[in-house]
Order: sequence, then C-alpha cells, then structure tokens
Amino acid sequence: MRLLITGGAGFMGSNFIRYILKKYPDYKITNLDKLTYAGNLENLRDVEKNPLYKFTKGDICDQKIVDSLAKEVDVIVSYAAETHVDRSIMNPREFAMTDVIGTQTLLEAAKKYKHPLYVQISTDEVFGSVESGKFTEESPFLPNSPYAASKAGGDLLCRAYAITYKMPIIVTHSCNFFGQYQYPEKFIPLFITNLLEGKKVPLYGKGGNIREWIYTQDHCSAIDFILHHGKAGEVYNIGTGWEKTNLEITKLILGALGKGESQIEFVKNRPAHDWRYSLDSSKLRSLGWKPKYEFKDALLETIKWYKNNENWWKPLKSGDYLKYYEEQYKNR
Ligand code: NAD
Ligand code: TYD
Repeated sequence: MRLLITGGAGFMGSNFIRYILKKYPDYKITNLDKLTYAGNLENLRDVEKNPLYKFTKGDICDQKIVDSLAKEVDVIVSYAAETHVDRSIMNPREFAMTDVIGTQTLLEAAKKYKHPLYVQISTDEVFGSVESGKFTEESPFLPNSPYAASKAGGDLLCRAYAITYKMPIIVTHSCNFFGQYQYPEKFIPLFITNLLEGKKVPLYGKGGNIREWIYTQDHCSAIDFILHHGKAGEVYNIGTGWEKTNLEITKLILGALGKGESQIEFVKNRPAHDWRYSLDSSKLRSLGWKPKYEFKDALLETIKWYKNNENWWKPLKSGDYLKYYEEQYKNR
C-alpha cells in the first residue's frame, strides 16, 4: 500500500509513520508536512533513510503540491492540523485555514485520483463537553473552541464529500493523546518537562476538568486497524475508558518525579474550558480493536521517555515558545 500521511512530522503522525514502517516492511509512505512550530523532523530521524519513506515540505492548502503527491498514492491518512486549543483562542484563522480548507484540498485530490479510501484523524472535541454519559458517533457537533470548530468543519466536509461524490471516507474521533514526541505545550508533556526543569506546573481552574486519554501505541494500532478493517463511509470513536481529572494526572506525575503538591500553580482558567470528554467506542471494539496499555504504565513510560530525551524537548522550550506563553496569560 502507498500512503500519503499529512502532518507526519508532528506528534502522532510521526509515531504512526514509525509504526507502519515497522509493521509493514513493503508499504511506501510519503509524509507531507508544512513544518509549523509543531512539526519537527527530529521526530523521524530513525526512519528518514528508509528507502520506502519520503518527506515533502508543503502546505495541505496547496492544491498543486497535494495533487502531485496524491497522484502517486492509494490512501491519504490526514493528521495535519493546527491542534492546540489555547493557540486557537489567540489565533483562530490559522486553524480555519488548515483544518477546514486544508481538509477540503486533500478531499479534492482524493476525488480526482479516485482513491479507494481517505482517513481523517479527528477529535472528540467536535462534540463539545458532556456532563454525564458518553458521546456516540451520532452525537451532534457542538464545538466550543475555534480548534474544535475548525476540526468539525473539516469533518463535515468529509461527510459532504462522501455523500455528494460517493467517496470512500472514514472519519475517526479520538480522545486525548499522550506519549513520546508530544510537543511540550500540551498538558502531560508540559507538566513533565516543567518539573524536570524545576519549574511549577500551571493547572487551569481547580484541576477538576476530565479528559479521556489514549497512549500513542494504542492510537496507532486503532488507525492501523481502521485502515485495514474499517468500513468506508463510517465514523469511528477511538477511546480507552481512561477518564481522569487533570489534578489526578498532575499528582501522578508529581509522585513519579518525587515532587510535592507545592509545585502546582493554580492559574486562571482557559476561556470556554470544556468540562469533560468521554467517548463510547463500542462500535470500533465490536469490530475487534481494543487498547493494550494500562494508563499508569503508559504514563510512567512517557515520563521516562521525557527524562531520557532532554535533548529533544529542551530546544523546543525557548524563543517563540516562551513568547507564546507570555502572551497567552497576558490575554486572559
Ligand atoms: P501536532 O500539532 O503534534 O502535529 C500537527 C502536524 O501538522 C505538525 O507536524 C505540523 O507541522 C503539521 N501541519 C500543520 N499545519 C499544516 C499544513 N497547513 N500543511 C501541512 N502540515 C501541517 O498534532 P497531533 O497532536 O499529533 O495531532 C494529530 C491529529 O490528531 C490532528 O488532526 C488532531 O486534530 C488530531 N487529534 C489530536 C489529539 C491530541 O490529543 N493531540 C486528540 C484527538 C485527535
Ligand atoms: P490539552 O493538552 O491542551 O488538551 P485539550 O484541551 O485539547 O484537551 O489540555 C488537557 C487538559 O489540561 C485540559 O483540560 C486543559 C488542561 N491544561 C492545564 O490545566 N494546564 C495547561 O497548561 C494546559 C496546556 C492544559
């Protein structure tokens, strides 16, 4: 199979490329990535010389580049997106461009070259926040942040292309990712690396918000499963059932690094901070996929990885990154 992975230099895209090259030694992968602040070719150093892997720097909104690559592959798996909620509050336009127009550009190419499948990697955040119960694949889209709204726009275009042009498209809604190579602005790697640097951790509000979490390896296995066994035209939720408050996770990280709760700094809440995400993933599980990892083991593995890979994350936490933090709190 020849795959075009978009956003493959980011966190989960790079993990997926590594996973596929290892599991399917005859698959060809082209990675199209704009290399925004979140894209990092260091994430792929170990595979860059693999003759079955090729990298192209480019924007998914650029129809010419997208077409030239789509022509040579069977399936697009699209990870490329602007992904950080706090940044979307500060600069929504980039999110609308990449997550909506970028998706439309990819769909147009998949249509032109009559691909047998297009897979859109999306999020549970499109459903909004749920006090009790779980989101099913049929739950309405009620996004609350510009990030969630932009992802919802991309997902709705997938639906419209599938219906209007009868294209074979699958959309996935996953819970929150964590694991190696996650950019240290997201909750878990930010907190681990801050503590490793001797800094405090900025917990929003009272830390009571709840997220459902999935480890990198389990998300990769879910997308692999969907790529090979999913039904075109369907939507799949990808969840683990690991629901935790942010305070619970913070305490686990503090404990693992031998730090006390005095390292927590309760900071001003994120605007429109979704209270809880929770997915009903029984549809995918009924086909035969399930997660393999336990939350605590996966979190400890992740902490170990950040401890052992300071040379990966230290350079990321400087320059523009620090400016972004200053601005974020100034504007709240
Ligand atoms: P990430 O921010 O780590 O990486 C995104 C990648 O996309 C980067 O390499 C970036 O350079 C690239 N990119 C951004 N704009 C681009 C453009 N216009 N053209 C080409 N490349 C571009 O993202 P991630 O956390 O690995 O998330 C991957 C996907 O999974 C996203 O679609 C996201 O919405 C979805 N998702 C993420 C989570 C999560 O918890 N992080 C949960 C569910 C779903
Ligand atoms: P994040 O990793 O940004 O993912 P998302 O908002 O897309 O779920 O945040 C996860 C949770 O952690 C969310 O409830 C917000 C919270 N959080 C903090 O308390 N402090 C922080 O500095 C960050 C980045 C997030």
